[in-house]
Amino acid sequence: MTKTHARTPVTKAVVPAAGLGTRFLPATKATPKEMLPVVDKPAIQYVVEEAAAAGLSDILMVTGRNKRALEDHFDRAYELEELLTRKGDHDRLRRVQESVQLANMHYVRQGDPKGLGHAVSVAEQHVAGQPFAVLLGDDLIDPRDPLLSRMIEVQQELGGSVVALMEVDPAQIHLYGCAAVKPNGLGEDVFRITDLVEKPDTAEAPSNYAVIGRYILDPAVFDVLRDTAPGRGGEIQLTDALRELATREENAGGPVHGVLFKGRRYDTGDRGDYLRAIVRLACERDDLGPEFRDWLRRFVATEMQG
Ligand code: UTP
Repeated sequence: MTKTHARTPVTKAVVPAAGLGTRFLPATKATPKEMLPVVDKPAIQYVVEEAAAAGLSDILMVTGRNKRALEDHFDRAYELEELLTRKGDHDRLRRVQESVQLANMHYVRQGDPKGLGHAVSVAEQHVAGQPFAVLLGDDLIDPRDPLLSRMIEVQQELGGSVVALMEVDPAQIHLYGCAAVKPNGLGEDVFRITDLVEKPDTAEAPSNYAVIGRYILDPAVFDVLRDTAPGRGGEIQLTDALRELATREENAGGPVHGVLFKGRRYDTGDRGDYLRAIVRLACERDDLGPEFRDWLRRFVATEMQG
């Protein structure tokens, strides 16, 4: 990659976690979907770990109703810690304390969940005019497939905003924001985004590049969000604001680029993907994996016979 220009560094991450999680009812009636466990950690902890691993130690979580569980998870648990200390259970004590030490956590409430674009807009004051990362609290990127650091690198090189793209089966594109792209020349994984459509029908989709839940945004997005009317589903869509940035003639707010992700990603807000995430991550764990894989092998063999 060529020399990076002197740009404002990306130091802050915003994690929207105020959605209603209706696809996961009734589990999400009183618990945020971001707190559902993936093996033995809530989904949101993987997301915060990912931001911290990319050097983003200032994290603003956008919460809504049921925010207590989210805040408590990243806070001290004195009673529990004291009990585990008394028992000499250092391993569990370490695991309880891990989430507290990851990052400097801040919280803001969204009020009404009026959509992802609206959730991002409530971060404006905290972000204070700098480019910032957005990591969706229910989108899990496998820790072995780094994406965020590459997106930050591309943003620092090209300015503007950067979104994560993934190739999906054309029949599935109606579930995602979809990008029209042209090559950029910065690498095979980087594209210039020329248009964006939220959840298009397959026949109208400009590509099979789906926008997934990682973004590096120029603060110009806040002005655009203020003027973004509710779109699909009556929600203020981040995709609509990014479309405005990507298609502006005067290019104010900088270009929008896409980084193509080829790694493993799970939408933990979707029941099928949630189950796949658990099975995959459990199989690969040193402590649980060997026994679980044996059981799974036997289970699949029996299922195939039946
Ligand atoms: P989703 O699009 O999955 O929406 O949000 P949702 O409403 O939570 O879920 P379903 O479709 O009803 O099951 C993607 C991310 O954006 C957050 C969610 O918490 C999730 O992490 N979000 C969404 C907000 O923070 N506020 C909103 O108004 C909407």
